[in-house]
Amino acid sequence: MTSLLDELQLADAIPIDYLNSSTEELHIRAKRAKEILGDRLYILGHHYQKDEVITYADVAGDSLQLSQIAAKQTAEYIIFCGVHFMAETADILTTSKQAVILPDIRAGCSMADMANIDQTERAWNELQRCFGDTIVPLTYVNSTAAIKAFVGRNGGATVTSSNAQEMVEWALTQKERMLFLPDQHLGRNTAVKLGIPLERMAIWDPIKQKLELLCDLQDVQVILWKGHCSVHMNFLPKHVETLREKEPDRNILVHPECTYEVVNASDFAGSTKYIIDKIEASEIGSKWAIGTEMNLVNRLIASYPDRDIISLNPFMCPCLTMNRIDLPHLTWALEELVEGRVINQIVVDAQTAKYAKMALEKMM
Ligand code: 13P
Ligand code: SF4
Repeated sequence: MTSLLDELQLADAIPIDYLNSSTEELHIRAKRAKEILGDRLYILGHHYQKDEVITYADVAGDSLQLSQIAAKQTAEYIIFCGVHFMAETADILTTSKQAVILPDIRAGCSMADMANIDQTERAWNELQRCFGDTIVPLTYVNSTAAIKAFVGRNGGATVTSSNAQEMVEWALTQKERMLFLPDQHLGRNTAVKLGIPLERMAIWDPIKQKLELLCDLQDVQVILWKGHCSVHMNFLPKHVETLREKEPDRNILVHPECTYEVVNASDFAGSTKYIIDKIEASEIGSKWAIGTEMNLVNRLIASYPDRDIISLNPFMCPCLTMNRIDLPHLTWALEELVEGRVINQIVVDAQTAKYAKMALEKMM
């Protein structure tokens, strides 16, 4: 019997030559292939990507920025240096003549995997039974195309961490309550910011298929899907407390995928773009502890040597799935394109894409 790990390794068909080549050689080959492809190719890179990859991106951005840029792209090939749900979004927003490529097909997202379409349909039926037609579904873009399509079909929209507040406000003008998938923390932190009390938020547990309530059923305003980001969960209230004691003058800046307790104890919370902009606008010599993905924190440390920047968790690691996109896989994807072969193309079927696009367009 093959294990999940075996299956994932088998899914990665990269020729061994790429893994055995030196970094210097791969850089030479990647640069040459990119030059040959010229404007037939556009490379999008999420800010959480490794330096060896982001250096090839025509543009680096957060989820919202990259979706907006993908929608305007005319290049024949789009290499998405990010994770699977981002490449799916790019495929939905581009034409059928363009190919979106994810250099390593195994670059998934543990949060997106926490809500599948069967679980979502089951939850929706149960929630409709409890609350009737009073719910608007919202999904964080960190979700599969099938979930985005579900949301689109049911009158909802997608959100990103940059616009979650506007989108939650919009949802609550449409119906009495909302279902927020799949990240309970972004949903909770955003709802708290809008003044919704914690007691009025229920949690849908997709494993137990059960609603966890803190108030009477009719008082529920927000239903949070019980999902999370396994990277941002590594920032704990004890990290904030330790730092406050040791260095009370250090600013604490975190991503809203962190828990409510961490966000509440921090000085600032916001999306990837917000974090980057905040550091860029900060005073020289100012001190920061950042609670987000480590490739980005390390890049900020390197880009702003005149600020004192550390990670909020001193033992933090990068996002493992983002890190699957590396120089060997990128070089492989580029050289295959030069040979006229498209590897690891991400294709969303037309029906799913149609409804997912409705949800995305409401947001964009
Ligand atoms: P943003 O790019 O929207 O900040 O999302 C962060 C993230 O976790 C991406 O996977
Ligand atoms: Fe998914 Fe979290 Fe990694 Fe983003 S940082 S890709 S949400 S696991």
